[in-house]
Amino acid sequence: MKTINCIGCGKLGKTILKLIVDKQLAYVNDIVNQSLHSARESVKFIGQGNALSKLDEITPADIYFIATRDDAIQTVCEELIRKNLLKPGSFILHFSGSLSSDILSSARMAHCYIASAHPVKSFSEPSIVVNTFLGTYIALEGDQEAVTSIGDLLKGIGGTIFNIKKENKRQYHAAMVIANNYLTTLHFQAMKNLKNSGVDEKIAKNLVSMLMNDSLNNVNRLNHKDALTGPIQRGDTMTIKGHMEALKTDPTSIAIYTALGKGTLSLTSHDPSKKKELEDLLSGDQDMKHTSAISNIRSHL
Ligand SMILES: NC(=O)c1ccc[n+]([C@@H]2O[C@H](COP(=O)([O-])OP(=O)(O)OC[C@H]3O[C@@H](n4cnc5c(N)ncnc54)[C@H](OP(=O)(O)O)[C@@H]3O)[C@@H](O)[C@H]2O)c1
Repeated sequence: MKTINCIGCGKLGKTILKLIVDKQLAYVNDIVNQSLHSARESVKFIGQGNALSKLDEITPADIYFIATRDDAIQTVCEELIRKNLLKPGSFILHFSGSLSSDILSSARMAHCYIASAHPVKSFSEPSIVVNTFLGTYIALEGDQEAVTSIGDLLKGIGGTIFNIKKENKRQYHAAMVIANNYLTTLHFQAMKNLKNSGVDEKIAKNLVSMLMNDSLNNVNRLNHKDALTGPIQRGDTMTIKGHMEALKTDPTSIAIYTALGKGTLSLTSHDPSKKKELEDLLSGDQDMKHTSAISNIRSHL
């Protein structure tokens, strides 16, 4: 059975290792955290491994997980090499969504194979995620030897593996942020405006969640174009003007409304001149044109 060392064993590290241990897919060797207390807590959760707080104390393994926060990955990897702690032929893996395996490239000097694996999941509560992990999509890239072996391991714990090009990881991760984090932001911003319009907070929350769920269901059932409804899809200029007027005292709301409005235009079937009219309206160009027309008239008086 392959052995694993994990440097940085927080929310993600302990969840993945607990799943591996429960399925008896590999043996957990050393767990290194910044604090010994935290490493011991991780070992207790996983049910296997030696808790350490000093990198120098790790023993060789077949696989090294570097599951620290993103900013520490490269430093940890370089320290492992500098201190000659990597076993030649082993696999070195990190789990960042935005960084590629390139950040581990110095490990190739120690004759190791590198990879990055990004599980598309929020690991905020490891005790819950171990029960909901099945089917989680995992974006994988790196050296073929590592991708094959790590891919099998992650499939073994229920992951659904897909390949990503390392040069596209930042764009890929930005998309995840739009889909995940910004949906929460949109929920918050929509609720804020509903509350400001006098709708009770509880009703506002239910209403926004129901609308978002309906939209998601429609997108899944139909396609983006057919799922879209609303004033931009209909081309209701006066309604859009009214919304912009109502939101104008809140810079964040108006910025979100107009930016997403422009992003919505490509989903409509309006002719080019109607699209241009709506784009100008959302860009505030109509107001600017109006203002400059007035100042032109004034300058000629
Ligand atoms: N959380 C998620 O939902 C999620 C989802 C997908 C991908 N990821 C990726 O997974 C990785 C880990 O994220 P996380 O949320 O699990 O982070 P986390 O909960 O903050 O855990 C990080 C762990 O790293 C340890 N650590 C930090 N610097 C270290 C160092 N120099 N040497 C040894 N240990 C060190 C910390 O030790 P102490 O406990 O002693 O401070 C902590 O236990 C990141 O690359 C992240 O992008 C996370």
